[in-house]
Amino acid sequence: MADVEELKRLAGIEACKFVKSGMKVGLGTGSTVKHTVIELGRRMAEEGLEIVGVPTSLATEKLATEVGIPLVVLSEINGLDIVIDGADEYDSKFQLIKGGGAALLREKIVAQESSAMVVVADDRKKVSTLGAFPLPIEVTPFSHEATVRTLSRLLDCRVNIRMAGDGPVITDNGNMIADAHTGPTISDPESTESDILLIAGVVQVGLFNNMCDAVVLAGSNGVETVINPNGRL
Ligand code: A5P
Repeated sequence: MADVEELKRLAGIEACKFVKSGMKVGLGTGSTVKHTVIELGRRMAEEGLEIVGVPTSLATEKLATEVGIPLVVLSEINGLDIVIDGADEYDSKFQLIKGGGAALLREKIVAQESSAMVVVADDRKKVSTLGAFPLPIEVTPFSHEATVRTLSRLLDCRVNIRMAGDGPVITDNGNMIADAHTGPTISDPESTESDILLIAGVVQVGLFNNMCDAVVLAGSNGVETVINPNGRL
């Protein structure tokens, strides 16, 4: 049986089938989609693929530059054809939890600007109810303790600021990440998203609802592409 790293690589490469010359492509963040970025760079160098990319994080910007993908900023273009990105969890309605890599704000902006979203994942990410993976919420540093308390009351669970060593994780946007330990209880992710976004200290939440059109899923039986019947692909 293939190990998890190999499954991530297989899913990441397979998703490149959705990318054609001339496309404007959102480049996601994480250990699965990094293989997509590398493969797109290879196809540009060796097969004449011509694309431009919009990265969803500084880490992806660095990788895309290294592999030779020309980058543009969202303000220079009128939307993207597709974004390919990872996910921390997805459910049977293709609703997602993202932000395990702290890149959720830029990821969500890029997804919102894209005509289609393809998720790359290994089969550990499929769940019946979202929330076993702690829900990442980007919060503004100003009075973040109060925001954490409000989130904890709203969601009725432990919420903590994500740390890196002695200090908090600081996102590419200068904010912090609060992780909400809801457990697998998020049965109505749309209302959970709306409720969280009403809190003033919240910048964005890692629930990606009604955005994902397909999941390229790698498991021990190989790679399969699951198309969202209510999606755009
Ligand atoms: C980044 O903030 C996340 O949304 C990632 O896309 C997500 O955590 C999936 O990452 P992996 O592919 O590394 O599991």
